[in-house]
Amino acid sequence: MELAYGMLCSCSVFSVTVLIILLSWRKFGKDTKQKVPPGPQGWPVIGNILDLGTMPHQTLYKLRSKYGTLLWLKLGSMNTMVLQSSMAAEQLFKNHDLSFCDPKCPDALIPHNYYQGSLAFGRYGSYWRILRRLCTMELLVNKRVNDTAALRRKCVDAMLRHIERDSAAGLARGESGEVNLAHSLFLMAFNLIGNLMVSKDLLESESREGKEFFDAMDKIMEFVGKPNLADFLPFLKWLDPEGVNRNMKEHMGKAMNIAGRFVKERVEERKIGKQGMAKDFLDALLEYGSDGKEGPDRISDHNINVIVLEMFLAGSETTSSTVEWAMTELLRNPKSMQKAREELNQAVGPNRKVEESDMDNLPYLQAVVKETLRLHPPLPLLVPRNAMEDTEFMGYLIPKDTQIFVNVWGIGRDPETWDEPLCFKPERFTGSNIEYRGQNFELIPFGSGRRICVGLSLAHRVVHLALASLLHTFNWNLNPKFLDTNERVGITLRKLVSLKAIPRKRSLGE
Ligand code: HEM
Repeated sequence: MELAYGMLCSCSVFSVTVLIILLSWRKFGKDTKQKVPPGPQGWPVIGNILDLGTMPHQTLYKLRSKYGTLLWLKLGSMNTMVLQSSMAAEQLFKNHDLSFCDPKCPDALIPHNYYQGSLAFGRYGSYWRILRRLCTMELLVNKRVNDTAALRRKCVDAMLRHIERDSAAGLARGESGEVNLAHSLFLMAFNLIGNLMVSKDLLESESREGKEFFDAMDKIMEFVGKPNLADFLPFLKWLDPEGVNRNMKEHMGKAMNIAGRFVKERVEERKIGKQGMAKDFLDALLEYGSDGKEGPDRISDHNINVIVLEMFLAGSETTSSTVEWAMTELLRNPKSMQKAREELNQAVGPNRKVEESDMDNLPYLQAVVKETLRLHPPLPLLVPRNAMEDTEFMGYLIPKDTQIFVNVWGIGRDPETWDEPLCFKPERFTGSNIEYRGQNFELIPFGSGRRICVGLSLAHRVVHLALASLLHTFNWNLNPKFLDTNERVGITLRKLVSLKAIPRKRSLGE
């Protein structure tokens, strides 16, 4: 009897337990479905990786019509949320910036512990805050940006000379005189960063070191921009299927060594009191580190090298591809080109160069830059963020460690925000107070919130000066095959076919 009673009890306990498990599984299943935004069903193991395609920003934006402005994907083992409207971006940056303030670091930046010293991929914490403050003082604060106007002038002038020389050499060989504008712009931006960071003309000088550094950085940009399966399927890390890790180890090692030599050279110069005329970014980093700081306040020698490299990575291609897209759009839209040039003729006149101080009188040129960044943001999904904790966001519960993409490319094409969104119409910005400084969420090519691009003011100045100078110095003819707007995803969203065009120096009064 006792045995039967015992068995009955155990059976009931067992059945009740199973029932509870089943009910809670159902409830859990239902809840998790409601907890995260909608999205396409993924495959086992790989999840939605195949849904991304070769142009993720475009494919994701297409999914908006089916799933709405918040999209949920599983990329391998990585939970991913995609924001595809200015309203969602505003919610993120205004109300939840802190919860999503960590970036998601790609596997490509693990070699040589790059990520640990990085500002863009460093975790939100005291080291990041110190570095951010230092970079803000050097790159974002108006006074400091004004102090470096002569360097921008010097590098833009060198680019104009380079274009003229290149074209003349082509003509002398019996060719059309066409120049690779994309390449000239990239060299200008790279050289500018070299001047700002370490006071070196890395490309003008014939130094072998400068060339080696440029080549290594070029490779790093190629491999950081490559899609890497190991980011989504961590069990593939050891296999390194695309060779990203192996190549990054090699080229990052080379670049880091050369940056280390620049730093060492400067430290020696400072010791014997031999300093350049103007303080550069490296001086600022060394001065910060010179008073024996320890702990999280310290910026180690290794991290100084990382920061120097990072500015080249973050600042050169973003800047040059923006000007390349602006020139492409102007060449495709002759009326806009004519308007921009007429404005330059009126505000500057034919007898002198255009200067940064002219920009306030060039509202149409400013509108051209905004319109370019609306249609062609160099980082179409911004720098991916990471949820630092479980966070309630727009009615959903987003689990810790979810990757966040903000599709600014899609937001720039949203027909609910923009009239004729696919047309290049700078006029939409004339008389409007929409800026790209992180407050107008329909136009955030530089991001927003705590992590907004620290090079924004610098980029703003260079892009305007370079574009205005190209328009004011030359007349441009081009081969129509370069007029397409097809894209290529790498470290930035570039034109698939680099822009080439034929410059003809403008004569006085033209
Ligand atoms: C047109 C040119 C540029 C564009 C469109 C651009 C865009 C961006 C974007 C979208 C971010 C991420 C913001 C976010 O996640 O909210 C970023 C971050 C960053 N940018 Fe830029 N950028 C440009 C030029 C530059 C330049 C010239 C530099 C420096 C020389 C620079 C340095 C950085 C750095 C260091 C970060 C990381 C900031 C942080 O995480 O605190 N950028 N940029």
